[in-house]
Amino acid sequence: MPAFWHWFVAAGTIVFIIWCVWLVSWSAKQGPQNVADEDLVGHKWDGDLEEWNNPAPKWWLYLYFITIAWGVGFLIAYPGVGNFEGMLGWSQEDQYEAEMQAAAERYEPIYETFAAMDFGELAMHPDANKLGASLYASYCTTCHGSDARGATGYPNLTDSDWQWGSSEAQIVTTITNGRNAVMTPWAQVLGSDEAVDNMVRYVQSLSGIVEADDGLAGAETQFKTFCAACHMPTGTGNPMLGAPNLTDDVWLYGSSDEVIRETIEKGRNGMMPAHGELLGDNRSKILAAYVYSLSQQ
Ligand code: HEC
Ligand code: HEC
Repeated sequence: MPAFWHWFVAAGTIVFIIWCVWLVSWSAKQGPQNVADEDLVGHKWDGDLEEWNNPAPKWWLYLYFITIAWGVGFLIAYPGVGNFEGMLGWSQEDQYEAEMQAAAERYEPIYETFAAMDFGELAMHPDANKLGASLYASYCTTCHGSDARGATGYPNLTDSDWQWGSSEAQIVTTITNGRNAVMTPWAQVLGSDEAVDNMVRYVQSLSGIVEADDGLAGAETQFKTFCAACHMPTGTGNPMLGAPNLTDDVWLYGSSDEVIRETIEKGRNGMMPAHGELLGDNRSKILAAYVYSLSQQ
């Protein structure tokens, strides 16, 4: 907090407390101490229920003073007056850190035991998968869905199709380092609208959505020239680059004419964020095994 705001907040807080003390003391002195008939304020309910102008009882006033004293004590002990950190040295960050530390100390041995296991074994271990499922629910559902079936642009993790590979090392890398898919736009390179149309149909022919015909010979040549570097000459894809297999019926973005056209014309840049720092090695491995187990059911 800059110095100006520190003093602004501190002065405001202190002046306000002094004002509270003054207000309570002042109102304690108001009103007649010996109540006489003429001190009725004139309000009348139910015929004979009248309001007197009496001061508040002493014990009630003391409650106000106790509350103010409590507030002052609190502001001395804890942060609250501008930049002043409080005598107890408490802070939100420290409390959070301490809680995280306590949780880590409690759970880390469990994570460690699981992470030491063989990957294949871990993927079949019911307790490890239960833990994996709860980690998944906390960190992954926002993008991949609570059932892990994904959505457009977010891969389905329950199928056996792996854009970035399904080995232990590959899945762990995907989770810890994240992945950045780079598929550049191709409309200009392909040359014409017709060439893009033909490429759309050629891509569809790879998975049998449309029949291949002689009209696609040009597109095939272009595919082998421009696309094969990543998607491989037969379109089976390359997990090293995250280039999807175009010959199966699994589509990250979709297989309709319009969607494939958009993919080719504008390119795609799917991004899986890195989670290594957040999760650490042990939890990343447990999650990787859990995600792998989903594809094996
Ligand atoms: C530099 C490597 C590279 C080249 C070259 C490349 N692609 Fe891709 N392509 C990718 C990557 C990576 C993805 C995944 C994009 C993502 O996950 O966001 C992809 C995705 C696609 C998809 C979407 C698949 C789906 O499941 O929805 C299609 C279709 C596609 N590419 C067609 C082509 C065609 C046609 C060409 C040639 C004109 C081509 N690509 C050239 C890397 C490449
Ligand atoms: C902010 C959204 C987001 C979050 C959160 C997220 N992912 Fe992803 N994930 C993606 C996207 C997008 C891709 C596809 C990247 C691409 O296009 O290549 C992906 C890809 C993957 C893949 C690769 C799938 C394949 O076929 O190779 C795995 C595995 C994966 N995520 C697991 C996880 C796990 C486990 C978590 C939880 C720790 C997680 N993701 C959290 C967005 C997310």
